[in-house]
Amino acid sequence: MSERNIAIIGAGYVGLVAAACFAKKHNVVCVDIDEDKVELINNAKAPFYEPGLDELIKSGIKSGKLRATNDINGALESAEFIFISVGTPSKDNGEIDLSYVKSAAHDIGKALRNYAVVVQRSTVVPGTTRNVVKKIIEEQSGRKADKDFGIAFVPEFLREGNAVHDFMEPDRVVIGADDDRVTDNLLELYRDFYPKMPDSALVTMSIESAELVKYASNLFLATKISFANEVAELAEKIPNVDIVDVMRGVGLDKRIGPSYLGAGAGFGGSCFPKDLNAIVHFARKIDVPPFITEAVLKRNRRQIERIVSFVVDQLGKLDDKRIAVLGLSFKPGTSDTRESPALKIVNELMRLGAKDIIACDPKAVDEAKRVFGESIKYTEDPFEAIKNADCAVVVTDWDEFKNISPDDFAGLMRNPLVIDGRRIYQPEKFEGRVKLICVGRYIQR
Ligand code: NAI
Repeated sequence: MSERNIAIIGAGYVGLVAAACFAKKHNVVCVDIDEDKVELINNAKAPFYEPGLDELIKSGIKSGKLRATNDINGALESAEFIFISVGTPSKDNGEIDLSYVKSAAHDIGKALRNYAVVVQRSTVVPGTTRNVVKKIIEEQSGRKADKDFGIAFVPEFLREGNAVHDFMEPDRVVIGADDDRVTDNLLELYRDFYPKMPDSALVTMSIESAELVKYASNLFLATKISFANEVAELAEKIPNVDIVDVMRGVGLDKRIGPSYLGAGAGFGGSCFPKDLNAIVHFARKIDVPPFITEAVLKRNRRQIERIVSFVVDQLGKLDDKRIAVLGLSFKPGTSDTRESPALKIVNELMRLGAKDIIACDPKAVDEAKRVFGESIKYTEDPFEAIKNADCAVVVTDWDEFKNISPDDFAGLMRNPLVIDGRRIYQPEKFEGRVKLICVGRYIQR
């Protein structure tokens, strides 16, 4: 397949990763309303941390296959594919906020001149691509879907922290489209880009089914995490039980699988919480009781309370204690702090009177500063964080924290007490030297 012209609207985690990866082969232009982002990309810099992304952007800019712009008109002139990757956050009531998607569709409609396949990639509730995106483009362009432009929904499944790898080697590509020309165009694009992908991993279906695949996948993964957390709380009350062993035993069952069974501080990030809230809202709107989704969210909120209660149970009063919070990003490998359990834990500790919190993260300190300002202290060095602390709470499982040994904790802390909220330490090594409280391991009271 020859080089194709691709325009990607929204240069965030999803859009920019796709752009940088596609630019290995195709001509890609990213359109974003954020001028700083556009400038950074054109200067060959990633606006956020994602392993491997900086290098890909550099090579894309160098080869001339990647560029960014604020000007959607120019960007769409020769585009054959237009990907929409703008944010779909939650409104206060949990409902999906489609304002960015609507505005992107509006801009595309105004700028559309030639036939192009518009591919909705932002996660949206079923019906949105057809009833909102397609409709707005038709209204604004005066053109007809299927005839003058194509429309499809292709969900994105990448994980932040592994985004480049996930984009380059996805488990599957789901194409939701009604029109054969659109389906064929997309199959050709993806078959060519993923030459090793078996045909069985390229699945086609209706637009609405594809929209629901994305929500169903996130609901299932979040359910696995909340399931592990629920069993973890049982484990804490049963002598000799450790959730790590239990989930190893459970996950080896091929019907279940080992991934997403890590008990801990719960899930966060820009997807699971907001997508589950969107499901609850959408389900109620169409008269379906969202039993599982609500329970998963409730269990997730409880994990924050439980980690904080471990700290309070051990320290008593918090106002005269130094607490080191290890981790700020919602998971390792990213600077993203959206819906991060760490931020919720810091907030809760402050609400309960903690006045001396030092938070440590290798990549997300700048993001957290925007939230907490000078209310807490920050460091990127875990050893500095634990120095003179009365308690260290592990909230994100960065490798940097795994390297802290029991001797380091014992030697540097004022009171060697560690709460392992991500199960990164081996309890046997801490026995008799440092008090270690682990999520999902029997806690003697
Ligand atoms: P993001 O917030 O990082 O990026 C969105 C970008 O779109 C921003 O740079 C923003 O300035 C830009 N934007 C907003 N309106 C625009 C417009 N009218 N024209 C041009 N640019 C515009 O969002 P992120 O995380 O990349 O997510 C995008 C979508 O992908 C969401 O629906 C999300 O649920 C979904 N998704 C996200 C994943 C993730 O790991 N972050 C994984 C899979 C799906």
